[in-house]
Amino acid sequence: MEPGGHACISQDHQPPEGLQAFGEGRNTFVTKETDFYGSGEAAVRINGRRDAPSTHTSSTGQALTDAGWLDTHFEACRPEYEAMLSSVGIEPGWHVLDAGCGSGSYLPLLTELVGRSGRVAALDLASDNVALVEKRLSGWDLPCPVEARAASLRTLPYPDDAFDAVWCANTTLHFGNEELPSVLAELRRVVRPGGLVAVKDIDTNLLRFYPADPFLVFHLSESGLHAERVTTESRGSLRGRELRRWLERSGLTEVWQRTTLIERWAPLRTVERQFFGDWFAYLAGLAEERRVPEADLATWRSVRDPAAPEYLLDHPEFYACEGQVVSVGRVPGGVR
Ligand SMILES: C[S@@+](CC[C@H](N)C(=O)[O-])C[C@H]1O[C@@H](n2cnc3c(N)ncnc32)[C@H](O)[C@@H]1O
Repeated sequence: MEPGGHACISQDHQPPEGLQAFGEGRNTFVTKETDFYGSGEAAVRINGRRDAPSTHTSSTGQALTDAGWLDTHFEACRPEYEAMLSSVGIEPGWHVLDAGCGSGSYLPLLTELVGRSGRVAALDLASDNVALVEKRLSGWDLPCPVEARAASLRTLPYPDDAFDAVWCANTTLHFGNEELPSVLAELRRVVRPGGLVAVKDIDTNLLRFYPADPFLVFHLSESGLHAERVTTESRGSLRGRELRRWLERSGLTEVWQRTTLIERWAPLRTVERQFFGDWFAYLAGLAEERRVPEADLATWRSVRDPAAPEYLLDHPEFYACEGQVVSVGRVPGGVR
């Protein structure tokens, strides 16, 4: 047994029978073949996801929270996402919470950052995501223990000062402006004085697909704020670059923020093509529900159809850009 108490795979990361390895280098990810399509070109496997609803809901009913979407997104953006987490300042020996852990993509790197003397807790509202994380933990060879549980960020099931840091990736967008201060206060409550609260979120104002109209996504985002059914996420996904101010207002100190543009050009890797195909299908579904300009609607209908004569992902000059923001603040008082 490893220090983490989990059954392990062999040191050379050969997956047990029935499991598939993907990813590169030290954080090789191991999962069940049917859960996923991986990152390495050869490992990518498309299995029935095309039949899945393009909203990618988990058991909570929230869009874009199921493991298939989360895994594909993470693998398509892995270098930038891992660099973002590595920039936070998490130290060896720390006890860290992954708040809104999804399918657990950040857990291998988090456990490496805290090392053998550290500990990690993983929490998510969706019980199916937590069940999958527990299954994956039993197949991973991680340097330290990870405890997963289902609960809400609204009332974290941990005492005050339980952690040295919290990492909360693409989860605060599920809260409206009215609720975000209390959620940030809850994240702050469970971190010791001197510890870190790190929040990562998308800013969909930075999303761009070329050669589509430069305002295609802007129109969709704007229509989301005026839709009959305005979702919390319509606003939350536009809040990325505001995070620094929200963290400052929550009483954190030494707050900093960095925005990363994740840019991809044709020819795409298989997992990138899958990722953008998923994005297009989801966004095109939103466009149908909202009042976007007619010309945009025609574009959205063609981008969701791989058989369309000018399918965007087949364009030799295709370019896509997604903007992700990390903001980090320190809980006042205490020692570093
Ligand atoms: C977009 S996913 C991001 C997952 C993961 N952090 C990642 O970046 O791959 C958002 C996650 O937050 C979870 N979530 C949403 N609302 C939550 C809440 N109130 N408390 C805890 N988790 C929540 C969802 O179930 C989902 O797994």
